[in-house]
Amino acid sequence: MNKLKNVDKELINEFRNLPINYWDFEGEDTKELTHGLHNYPAVMIYPISRNIISIVKKYQKIDTLLDPFMGSATVLVEGKLAGLKEVYGTDLNPLSILLAKVKTTVLEESELDKKVLELKERIEEIYCKNSIILESINSYVENNKIDITAKKGWGEEAHIILRDFLKKNNSDLRVPNFKNMGYWFKPRVILELQLLKNVILNIQQEDYRNFFLVCFSETVRYVCNTRNSEFKLFRMEKEKIKDFAPDVKTEFYKFLERNVKKIKEFSKRCESDCSVNIEFEDARVLNSIPDNSIDLMITSPPYGDSKTTVAYGQFSRPSLWWLDLKYIEPSNIHKVDNNLLGGKKAKKDFNYELQSETLKKSIEIIKEKDLNRAREVYSFYVDLDKSIQTITKKMKLNSYQFWVVGNRTVKEEKLLTDRIIVELGRQYGLVEVCDIPRSIPNKVMPSKNSPTNEVGKTVTTMTNEHIVVLRKER
Ligand SMILES: C[S@@+](CC[C@H](N)C(=O)[O-])C[C@H]1O[C@@H](n2cnc3c(N)ncnc32)[C@H](O)[C@@H]1O
Repeated sequence: MNKLKNVDKELINEFRNLPINYWDFEGEDTKELTHGLHNYPAVMIYPISRNIISIVKKYQKIDTLLDPFMGSATVLVEGKLAGLKEVYGTDLNPLSILLAKVKTTVLEESELDKKVLELKERIEEIYCKNSIILESINSYVENNKIDITAKKGWGEEAHIILRDFLKKNNSDLRVPNFKNMGYWFKPRVILELQLLKNVILNIQQEDYRNFFLVCFSETVRYVCNTRNSEFKLFRMEKEKIKDFAPDVKTEFYKFLERNVKKIKEFSKRCESDCSVNIEFEDARVLNSIPDNSIDLMITSPPYGDSKTTVAYGQFSRPSLWWLDLKYIEPSNIHKVDNNLLGGKKAKKDFNYELQSETLKKSIEIIKEKDLNRAREVYSFYVDLDKSIQTITKKMKLNSYQFWVVGNRTVKEEKLLTDRIIVELGRQYGLVEVCDIPRSIPNKVMPSKNSPTNEVGKTVTTMTNEHIVVLRKER
């Protein structure tokens, strides 16, 4: 059965009768269950997808759900909680894949308790065994007059300095060697993270190992010298770094305790079997998903290229340096953002070829002001267009797509992504059902930037979003 019923009228009627601020969810706890595991930039809060699923389910049979830009897997978690048969998610950020797997995996309560106890025992053992190096590293650094805030020296050569230190102490601990490790991490922090990582990697069952790796990843971010209030990587000021002495093990235990609670609550709430299909794959490709197989798509795509909007790859870098995920070579970790939508700038002499008059006008205006910005903006929409085509191929006839998008401003020109998606979708057989505005009171987003790079001059980049609803007509 590859065709669904056209239920436009019913949906439009339902949406029309909802209270005006129905989609805003101001003040709601958006971190319940596994939604509360690990931060992620520009998360689409779960009540949006929960409510979309429950509304569409009233009128159509929904077995399969897709989020091609799944990020931290909010949509997939909701699909699983709603008892759907199959959920599909893809993303090109390796951290997203780990998060999605863990957030959608049910863990058995007593087994989890047992594993946590064992893990903590091993951690205490390994800390005890390594107490001499942990206690002496700071004085070693001081005695050797190593400036741990300097880029040259400790910043670039932390692995060499630590290797010498460990050798002198007859320790067989091996520390990582990623670029500028010392710039981002203090000496004792590196040793402690490595000890924790060794214990976690010794866990045989993948589901539990991955769950602990997520707790570890949150710890890495917390103990890194990056300013935690920002998604982009900005190092703390030197003076702050000197005084920054995070207790790595205690922080890890805190994340662990919170996450155990959340995964247990989630596991209790998942009643039915739902097959979860998560792939490290480009939304412009989607080879892992059969054609004409998806009943419902819900997604919040990026707002623009990562470099000038939300840098998902940069946010994930500290975790990726430590996690050794199989999806990415260590030497490519800094390139994640280049592979996302709009990651490769269009040619200087690009010809406008997309099927959207709205976008065409905006590109012309931006081009007049700044060719480089026009190239960035255009390449983002070329990639978005390709993903609309691919996603639509994967969907059944009469299935619905919900695109939650923000209209950002570039060079004082507002890019009407909600309109642009509707116009681009037509050539692929998509018709617009409705466009629902929502304000974003609780989304962590850069809301202002300087349009002209003048200090003090800012413009609101996004105050609200649109939920664009499309149906695959042919
Ligand atoms: C707005 S976020 C999605 C957030 C998600 N809805 C959530 O609640 O966590 C957009 C995601 O798109 C991903 N992305 C960007 N370009 C992609 C591409 N070409 N293929 C797959 N994923 C991509 C980014 O890595 C990011 O995780």
